[in-house]
Amino acid sequence: MNFDLTEEQLAVQAAARDFAQTELLPGVIERDEHQKFPAEQIKKLGELGFLGMMVDPKYGGSGMDTVSYVLAMEEISKVDASASVVMSVNNSLVCWGLEKYGTEEQKQKYLKPLASGEIIGAFCLSEPEAGSDATSQRTTAEDKGDHYLLNGTKNWITNGNSASVYLVIAQTNPEKKHKGINALIVERDSPGFVVGPKENKLGIRGSDTHSLMFTDVKVPKENRIGEDGFGFKFAMAVLAGGRIGIAAQALGIASGAYELALKYSKERKAFGVEISKHQAIQFKLADMATNIDAARLLCLQAASDKDNHRDYAKSGAMAKLFASKTAMDTTVEAVQVHGGYGFVKEYHVERLMRDAKITQIYEGTSEIQKIVISRELLKN
Ligand code: CAA
Ligand code: FAD
Repeated sequence: MNFDLTEEQLAVQAAARDFAQTELLPGVIERDEHQKFPAEQIKKLGELGFLGMMVDPKYGGSGMDTVSYVLAMEEISKVDASASVVMSVNNSLVCWGLEKYGTEEQKQKYLKPLASGEIIGAFCLSEPEAGSDATSQRTTAEDKGDHYLLNGTKNWITNGNSASVYLVIAQTNPEKKHKGINALIVERDSPGFVVGPKENKLGIRGSDTHSLMFTDVKVPKENRIGEDGFGFKFAMAVLAGGRIGIAAQALGIASGAYELALKYSKERKAFGVEISKHQAIQFKLADMATNIDAARLLCLQAASDKDNHRDYAKSGAMAKLFASKTAMDTTVEAVQVHGGYGFVKEYHVERLMRDAKITQIYEGTSEIQKIVISRELLKN
């Protein structure tokens, strides 16, 4: 496999790096501290085409490949994982799902403003009692002829209070189990739809995580994605690609922490020399760099599988499993390299360490990635 980047991919990477340094870095500590959603920065990311990166330009997107998306996600996540999760959800769950499975009317009405960054979207699968066990949907979408009546609660929804469009997974025919589930497009101002309070989180504190309550929300039939009963397959298909985005987010968190640790190790002196001269520190840097390179290769492999229409459920899950562990291990060691300074906010590594943890939980925990990988391995 050849991972030499094209001119276009390098340009996307450079643009994302520049945006992260100039627009995201100033204020990232304050946004984390006060749990402030990066609204202005997200608007600018949309204007630059980073919110609908892989969408066809005829629907307002940038028409780029998944490799470019991975490169951009890494650069943005090096600095601000709260911003990159907004980007990941909008690009790979909401926009990709609508472009791949939506009707032409749904694309015109919803995908266009989502891909151009005019509005952002949310993907609503998890519930208080259905996280990893995603088929156990308690939210119901009762078939009422020309519309569905939506009732239930969704938990932990990223962009919960900032989105204008929500892709909601709900059970229509419980007797058909996962084959009775539907995916519905719900508008923010639908009567009966209430956004719950913001979660107070360990990491990605700038992102906007809420529970959502639906009480007799009327959703027109034309807002169903795919055939009746396609909702669970839709969620699984969307998540297979989404996991590549979260893998790239984890990679970015790891490489951001590594770059800070490398720089600091050459500045800080102890026992008369830079700490980078101590073998214990050198070995930490060697482990970090090796794991980061391996994580990057897995991310690029999964992205390349998707771009070349090969199956990417396994390679995406492998990338997420490995990159998220790399993010956790690397950020913990980056704090260690910084000593006491690593424990305070202005050196950034403590935030990266807190942000890293979520990459092992959302879009399928590490245990779930192992289920996905092993099922694929044992398929034949
Ligand atoms: N593409 C299409 N269909 C797929 C698929 C894929 N990649 N993977 C599975 N399916 C289909 C199966 O073929 C099956 O359909 P059929 O019966 O018609 O063949 C159906 O989905 C059910 O599959 P399983 O029998 O494997 O289902 P399961 O109950 O054993 O669960 C699971 C499998 C992998 C554990 C799944 O429940 C899962 O992925 N759980 C984790 C949920 C998750 O990732 N949530 C993330 C929420 S979004 C989020 O977190 C966003 C964010 O943070 C930013
Ligand atoms: P559980 O499923 O209860 O898991 C608890 C533990 O048991 C985990 O360690 C898990 O790995 C383990 N476990 C469960 N089943 C098995 C098994 N079969 N084998 C081995 N181990 C198992 N969801 C959305 O739909 N949309 C979003 O936008 C979204 N954003 C999120 C943002 C944040 C900040 C957070 C925290 C979560 C978000 N989620 C979102 C939900 C997320 O996807 C779930 O939290 C995740 O899938 C795990 O589900 P759970 O929390 O119910 O944990």
